[in-house]
Amino acid sequence: MKLTLDPCTPSQCRPLPDFTRLEFGKLYTDHMFTMEYSPELGWQNPTISPFKNLSLSPATLVLHYAQEIFEGLKAYTRVDGDVGLFRPRDNFIRMNNSAKRMNMPEFDIEIALNGLFKLLKLDKRWVPPQEGASLYIRPAMIATDAVIGLKPSTSYLFYIIMSPVGPYFKIGEKGLNIFVEEQYVRAVRGGIGEAKAGANYAASLLAASEAKKKGFADALWLDGVERRYVEEVGTMNIFFAYGSKVITPKLNGSLLPGITRQSIIELLKSWGETVAEESIDINTLIADIDAGRCTECFGSGTAAVISPVGSLHYKGIDHPISGEAIGPVSQKIFKALTDIQYGKAKDAFGWTRTI
Ligand code: PLP
Ligand code: COI
Repeated sequence: MKLTLDPCTPSQCRPLPDFTRLEFGKLYTDHMFTMEYSPELGWQNPTISPFKNLSLSPATLVLHYAQEIFEGLKAYTRVDGDVGLFRPRDNFIRMNNSAKRMNMPEFDIEIALNGLFKLLKLDKRWVPPQEGASLYIRPAMIATDAVIGLKPSTSYLFYIIMSPVGPYFKIGEKGLNIFVEEQYVRAVRGGIGEAKAGANYAASLLAASEAKKKGFADALWLDGVERRYVEEVGTMNIFFAYGSKVITPKLNGSLLPGITRQSIIELLKSWGETVAEESIDINTLIADIDAGRCTECFGSGTAAVISPVGSLHYKGIDHPISGEAIGPVSQKIFKALTDIQYGKAKDAFGWTRTI
């Protein structure tokens, strides 16, 4: 399928921001990629055009029933000056899995990848040059039928926008202070937790705001049935180190199968470390933290990379993990991962793709 290219005129291209003072997701690049779906023609009309507002009827299905999915990945300026992506195909594979769960049409991954590569080539100047910053890439798919009756849409819009970003969390000397959420849940097994659907994030907002109001960085999600098993932390998967053994909640249908999570598991295995995917009971975990058996905790995700957790607040009590210090396991994984992403270390896994 032929890609239509409608680039900005020089006067439409915007001035670049100060890349050393970026916040997360507030600015967008000059261009966007779009393609449209109709039942008669399937996906059609892949186009790169200047970044612009969408024009939608107020009746548009996505605005009422949240039939929407998205992805998040990053492009990096590598030390050799090339622009690199980290496991981009895996994001589009996950997006197609999300599409299936949300009764939306799957798309051709090659067309999406090709659109992304062309978009990045065109907006290369927006990839921040320094380590620690990156270009966050946001593919999304929305239901565009303008009908208020509840049904799956017949028409859809797929688009990709991009935003230069700095760090997601400001992490100082200590790890994040996290509130273990017992009242609200993010997702339940059988629901849409394993899909990257906007509706999951809407469900998480109140708990996260309340945790922040109480002075915590974010909420830790427990399972929706028993409020007993650890699932995720904020918008990240979660890991715990017991000395050199590392554990993470197993994928059970209600948590997002993170690409960073999978990469950490593969990295640890390649180093000969023990890593297990298992059910993690919050009461056992808290006892292990208090007794010093659990020595580290960290979250993982594209936006937040590796974010050390300094303490868990559970049932009114703070449980500091190893004195809240940032531990050696999370530091080693952070370095290994970012060295691969920024092209400072050899990528033995074939995860990176340069443009
Ligand atoms: N869990 C949730 C709820 C997320 O939003 C994210 C971020 O994408 C992750 C986990 C981590 O996934 P990934 O490593 O693919 O970015
Ligand atoms: C990501 O890590 O890509 C996320 O989805 C976080 C986002 C909700 C800001």
